[in-house]
Amino acid sequence: MLIQEKIQELLDLRTKAKLGGGEKRIESQHNKGKYTARERIEMLLDEGSFEEFDMFVTHRETGFDLEKQQYMTDGVVTGYGTIDGRIVYVFAQDFTVFGGSLSEMYAMKICKIMDKATKTGAPVIGLNDSGGARIQEGVKSLAGYAEVFERNILASGVIPQISAVFGPCAGGAVYSPALTDFIIMSKGTSNMFLTGPKVVKTVTGEDVTDEELGGAEVHSTKSGVCHFAVDSEKEGLMLIRKLISYLPQNNLEEPPYVPNEDPIDRLDPILNEIIPDNPSKPYDVKDVIHRIVDMGEFLEVHENFAPNIITGFARFNGTAVGIVANQPKYLAGVLDINSSRKAARFVRFCDAFNIGIVTLVDVPGFLPGTTQEYGGIILHGAKLLFAYGEATVPKVTVILRKAYGGAYDVMSSKHLRGDINYAWPTAEIAVMGPKGAAEILYQKETALITDPNERAEFLKGKEEEYRNKFANPYVAANLGYIDDVIEPRNTRFRIIRALQSLATKKDTNLPKKHANIPL
Ligand code: HXC
Repeated sequence: MLIQEKIQELLDLRTKAKLGGGEKRIESQHNKGKYTARERIEMLLDEGSFEEFDMFVTHRETGFDLEKQQYMTDGVVTGYGTIDGRIVYVFAQDFTVFGGSLSEMYAMKICKIMDKATKTGAPVIGLNDSGGARIQEGVKSLAGYAEVFERNILASGVIPQISAVFGPCAGGAVYSPALTDFIIMSKGTSNMFLTGPKVVKTVTGEDVTDEELGGAEVHSTKSGVCHFAVDSEKEGLMLIRKLISYLPQNNLEEPPYVPNEDPIDRLDPILNEIIPDNPSKPYDVKDVIHRIVDMGEFLEVHENFAPNIITGFARFNGTAVGIVANQPKYLAGVLDINSSRKAARFVRFCDAFNIGIVTLVDVPGFLPGTTQEYGGIILHGAKLLFAYGEATVPKVTVILRKAYGGAYDVMSSKHLRGDINYAWPTAEIAVMGPKGAAEILYQKETALITDPNERAEFLKGKEEEYRNKFANPYVAANLGYIDDVIEPRNTRFRIIRALQSLATKKDTNLPKKHANIPL
């Protein structure tokens, strides 16, 4: 064979490989409103940056006449490329080849790029669209999954791992995305569940559709499995690019510095009026966030899950931070099971990847009741406490209004190694709210008052007395628990200065195999 013929053979093989399961199946993928694995990679990465591995890999199975069905790539496209010039490793499951199902060789391909990513310290992005274990390969497929899971686990906290689900993701296959840091799901075209609607019907008698059981809507609002629900694959892929811009390549690096035009000393007089005079009146803490961060840009994580706490990424003077903020607009910003879980995981992610945490506090306490207690709020609340307490990244806290009871301690207080803790003059830092405190402290006295109006009047007076005495920032500031009481309009400037002073912070935890976070 002449060299030109050999080169042509290579080009022909590449063209064939790029067709995956063939034109008919590509058409069927498009008809479902979905892109192919290669189209997704092309949209995700910087133009022309993709370097593919293992295009010539095929499966080794001989049963079920499978030797007659050979497709190069074997159902998953793997390699690396760049996002804004920074290396990322990618695998994209190809639904046109055996429904994107996972075989022994397919798993080997994913493991190969995960090993490379871990060794070189680069993020891994997985684009999922698969019928699960390749049924014909039986236990070899299960083994392949577990090999991938093990790598997800070992890479956790070492390199960022991001999963997008753009099609089916069922059975044990859900555990690879679940082990990664963030899950993005496309609305209407993706689903995730351990057992599908048919099995659910047989076992529990429930009638439920794919979408109702494990669609993007369900997982981004009810279960919290999904961090971002997107309207289209394109939106999901652009979101991954944006998310990556806030993250370091690995746990030994800092997040990228992104200069911008927003002045450091931009004061915002509106902040001086944002807290309503009535302490029970809500306001939107997202307004505060947008007003203090660079260019008003905030990438919210878990937007629709446990909205009583807000989590997400922003920048101060070009430095990426994680923001955690109680949301008074929803359930008065109370801490409950889901909000504690949500924020704890976010805080741990930031801490693992050297991203400082800015916490904005307005929390009336923990949500009381049997649903919460039976659901284990003690353990879930402890997760958030633990996450803040073990975090060694810069921690800047601003108490905007309420910081009552255990929730004061939990929300990145000074006592959990909070580095710089500020309060607005509107802060109320006390063991409990004035109403509850008056009722408990003056139980005996109120019992002696028979007239209900007189009793209410007496309690109101005591409530006011307590409010004047304790519902302010100065008791905590007198004790040094608050480093300064700041004017709200200066908040951006004061946070930036605080973060600048903490840029060289070094803190450690005691040597141990690992901690035992209350799971
Ligand atoms: C082999 C599979 C496959 C699988 C789909 N295909 N799933 N091949 N193993 N798991 C093939 C189909 O035979 C078909 O081949 C092509 O992929 C497209 O499938 P369709 O059914 O035509 O597509 P669609 O109607 O869109 O339905 C998609 C689907 C459905 C919902 C994913 O295919 C399905 O239910 N598949 C089985 C899912 C499943 O039970 N997987 C195993 C779960 S157990 P042709 O040649 O016609 O194109 C599991 C355990 C993992 O995953 C444990 C890890 C620890």
